[in-house]
Amino acid sequence: MVTYRSPREWEVMREAGRVVGLTLDAVREAAEPGMRPRDLDEVAARIMREHGAKSSFLGYHPSWAPMPYPATICVSVNDVVVHGIPGAPVLREGDLVSVDCGAEVGGYHGDAAVSFVVGTADAAALRLVDATREALDRAIAAAVPGGRMGDVSAAVEGTARAAGYGILEGCGGHGIGTEMHEDPPVPNVGRPGRGMRLREGLTIAIEPMFHEGGDGDARVLADGWSIATADGSRAAHFEHTVAITADGPVVMTLP
Ligand code: MF3
Ligand code: CO
Repeated sequence: MVTYRSPREWEVMREAGRVVGLTLDAVREAAEPGMRPRDLDEVAARIMREHGAKSSFLGYHPSWAPMPYPATICVSVNDVVVHGIPGAPVLREGDLVSVDCGAEVGGYHGDAAVSFVVGTADAAALRLVDATREALDRAIAAAVPGGRMGDVSAAVEGTARAAGYGILEGCGGHGIGTEMHEDPPVPNVGRPGRGMRLREGLTIAIEPMFHEGGDGDARVLADGWSIATADGSRAAHFEHTVAITADGPVVMTLP
């Protein structure tokens, strides 16, 4: 069931989203070679605590997962696309890191992700990161009342195809509000003019994930959470929580 939110609810979601934006900025700032993803998780936990927010991820236990999610944020390195559990092996020069963060304030959630390279980046990594960010920007621009979900999905898919990147077909965005994951799904593949009609009040998380290889299966790592590319190629992930309003898309997850 799809729920449409009021401007009053957008305001609370904006608060949650603001903490998400601040947290991602702080984590990105802290990330450098020699740091452990686990240390970044601590940075995130501190920022959320300071702002009275709760991690949407910590303790989250969907039916497919073998255990509740054990950390504040996800830190996915190189071939890990999403849901990387922040661990102890240190980040190395040139690692491509995706950080995903969800926060709850006043009963509403914000969810966003960024990718970046720690230390000196190779050109291929930068190209992948730029294309994935561009896909998110284009998809957000398509999130307008009267449009279709397929317009959003096609913006993501088209950007990947044009740049020659693979997409994991089963992974995508979602409605978000009083739950982190709500209807409707926001697929990363689709056709313009198809899918559900977009209406004012719909609040969705749009999250393109591209990888350097072609399309192909993902594999779940031994921790039961981390989703990696089957071919070992590197992936990038960007996400924002967006409200569809009469004035156009409003990004909720900026600091
Ligand atoms: N942002 C992720 C998503 O939208 C949430 C990660 S799942 C968690 O699917 F367990 F880490 F919370
Ligand atoms: Co999400």
